[in-house]
Amino acid sequence: MKPKTLYRCQSCGAVSPKWSGKCPDCGGWNSLVEERAERGAPRGRKAIGKASLTPLPLSEVSGAAGERTSTKIRELDRAIGGGIVKGSVILIGGDPGIGKSTILLQAAGNLPDVLYVSGEESPEQIKLRAERLSVRSEGIMLLPETNLENIIAVAEKKRPGAIVVDSIQTMYTEDLASAPGSVGQVRECAAKLMFYAKRTGVPVFIVGHVTKDGAIAGPRVLEHIVDTVLYFEGDRGHSYRILRTVKNRFGSTNEIGVFEMTDAGLKEVENPSELFLSERPKDVPGSVVASSIEGTRPVLVELQALVSPTVFGVPRRTSIGMDYQRVNLLIAVLEKIAGLHLGGMDIFTNVVGGLKISETAVDLGISLAIASSLREKAVEPGLIVFGEVGLSGEIRAVSQAELRLKEASKIGFTKAIVPKSNRERLRSDFGLDITAVSSLRDALGAIGL
Ligand code: TYD
Ligand code: MG
Repeated sequence: MKPKTLYRCQSCGAVSPKWSGKCPDCGGWNSLVEERAERGAPRGRKAIGKASLTPLPLSEVSGAAGERTSTKIRELDRAIGGGIVKGSVILIGGDPGIGKSTILLQAAGNLPDVLYVSGEESPEQIKLRAERLSVRSEGIMLLPETNLENIIAVAEKKRPGAIVVDSIQTMYTEDLASAPGSVGQVRECAAKLMFYAKRTGVPVFIVGHVTKDGAIAGPRVLEHIVDTVLYFEGDRGHSYRILRTVKNRFGSTNEIGVFEMTDAGLKEVENPSELFLSERPKDVPGSVVASSIEGTRPVLVELQALVSPTVFGVPRRTSIGMDYQRVNLLIAVLEKIAGLHLGGMDIFTNVVGGLKISETAVDLGISLAIASSLREKAVEPGLIVFGEVGLSGEIRAVSQAELRLKEASKIGFTKAIVPKSNRERLRSDFGLDITAVSSLRDALGAIGL
């Protein structure tokens, strides 16, 4: 018997037996998503329900999450919080071609008995890639399949150590009639994998392609279902890739793993600061090195600004790697408080290396880069800066100043401009010549701008 399905509006919750482009209730367009019609717990969920009816004192819960399996790829382990937790479901999202299959195949080679389910590539293709990556292939079982019921059945029989599902958009469950890749299918398949993982303790990796098109559901619709969400970032033109943790039930978020894509697969990058600064031009106006904390570690990044007179009426402002609004705010402060004439100027800012920074500690770096470009005067190559800029031009303290300075000293920087209130609390100067500033004017003065 074919199970019944219904269509639920994602914005108002109205239910309809048939799909239509417009919700009959709220009139929203394209908001109906297929769901299973059964009310209550669907098959497979009941077994868990009974056992958890009695509340458990927190002190008596065993710390099973403590046992973690290492993927032997340190940067990946770091991103997932120090290794794979039993029964966890990890989603790896990213643009097509960024390296999701590559990293999972590399990890699979280091784990015992991995069931590698691929709906995208043939076993021959995977074999070729494994050879190129020199992946140890004895522990990997390949399953070219897209039917989720079949996949779970194989998994029940083989009892693998871990499962890789590449990709969730190619999988479908017989319970729903919609096409693979639709929101309903993607969600239901992920939920089923989640129940499988929790019931058996087998960790599951799910690959999800980020899609611009709304017709195919991207990894976003799964974020609340899975335990851990990692996104692969990076410019396809560049070789480095950043694995960023955006959600983790078993560890900290905002952790990053840094890799370099080579012809033998993804290589871990020991020191990201060195990588991001490797092509830094010397004595060029508009380039400043700032320190940002990514997760638990400091990363030095080169910030660039290009300021040039506007040719057509309205000045253009573009920022890559930073919040556009924040950069506009800094431009306004530079103009009003520090008296820089930026009104008739196009201003472009960029974080080198495709890194995206949301930390306010780079405010001062961006401000100085803009001033440096405007005045066409380069800052010293051995200088590193950090500090938050307030609306009245004050420089505010940032967290973990010592960690940032230690990293700068390690990479070979000699001078630093830091917020005054951070300076007062420092226990050491880490061999750096430190200038403490309390206003943007002070900071500009300190580098002669
Ligand atoms: P892939 O892992 O297939 O991407 P995804 O699964 O995220 O879609 O990565 C494919 C890209 O990586 C492809 O453009 C080629 C490149 N690549 C290398 O440069 N070196 C390698 O060793 C491998 C396996 C891939
Ligand atoms: Mg792939």
